[in-house]
Amino acid sequence: MASAIPQTWNPDQYARTAAFVPALGLPVLELLAPQPGERILDLGCGDGALTEKLAVLGCQVVGVDSSPAQVAAAQARGLDARVVDAHHLSFDAEFDAVFSNAALHWMPQPDAVLAGVWRALEPGGRFVGEMGGAGNIATVQEALQTVLAHRSGNLQQISPWYFPGAAEYRQKLEAAGFVVLSIEQFARPTPLPGDVGDWLETFAGSFLSLVPDDERCQLIAELRDLLRPRLMNTVGVWVLDYVRLRFATSKPWSAADEHAYAVMLADIAQAAAV
Ligand code: BEZ
Repeated sequence: MASAIPQTWNPDQYARTAAFVPALGLPVLELLAPQPGERILDLGCGDGALTEKLAVLGCQVVGVDSSPAQVAAAQARGLDARVVDAHHLSFDAEFDAVFSNAALHWMPQPDAVLAGVWRALEPGGRFVGEMGGAGNIATVQEALQTVLAHRSGNLQQISPWYFPGAAEYRQKLEAAGFVVLSIEQFARPTPLPGDVGDWLETFAGSFLSLVPDDERCQLIAELRDLLRPRLMNTVGVWVLDYVRLRFATSKPWSAADEHAYAVMLADIAQAAAV
C-alpha cells in the first residue's frame, strides 16, 4: 500500500510565508484559557510562535514537533522544545492541558496520537485544539490531483494530510476516553500574504517532490493557472478555502482517581490534625 510522502519544513520559509498560521490560532488559545503556572504541552509546536505566548502568560510549556528544524527555531526563542513524533508520546500524567494548533492534520494515525495525549494528561486535564476539517483546501487538493494524476494515480493514498469531519473526530475523541465539551467545523477562507506558489512550496512540498527539481517551476505555474479563477479575489489576493475543526475536551476523573484523591485529602487532614 502507498504511504504518505513526508513533509519537510524550512523555518525561514515558514516565518516568511506562514506567519498567518499562529496568528489565526489565537482563538484556540482563548478557548484553552491557559492559567499562569499550568503545565501545558503544545503538540506540533512548529517554530514555537504560540508556545511562546503560553510561556509569556506564565505557563510551564513544553513544545513537541517532529521537525528538528522547527524545534531548533522554537529553542532559539528560549523555549523547552523537543523533537518528538506525536504518534509515540511518552509523557505520563505530566500536563494540565494539551494544546494543538494546525498540526493534528499532519498526523495520519489519530488514534495513536489521542492515546498519547490521554496518557500525557492529569485526570481533569483538557485537550483543546484546531486542525483542518473535512473539505479543507479542497480546491488545492483537486488541482494537485489534476496536475499529478498521471504521475502517481490517486493522491489520497500518498497525501500527508488528515482532514476529518466533526462526527468522525468526536467519535475518535470519545473512543479515547475524552469528554467532548465542544466541537465545531466551519469554513475559514484564509487570505495569503503573497503568492499561492509560496504556499505550495511551504505546505505541499511532499507533492511537489513528485517531479524532478527542474520541473517544479512549471508544475507550480500549472497549479497557479488552475487555481487563479477559483482562489484569487477581485483585488488580486489569494484566498484559500480553509475549513477548521475546533474542539475542547476534558479527561474525566475515573472512579479510581477520585478514590485516590479522597484518600490523599484524608491523609493530609489527618496529618494536619496531629
Ligand atoms: C491547514 O489546514 O492548516 C493546512 C493543511 C494542509 C496544508 C497546509 C495547511
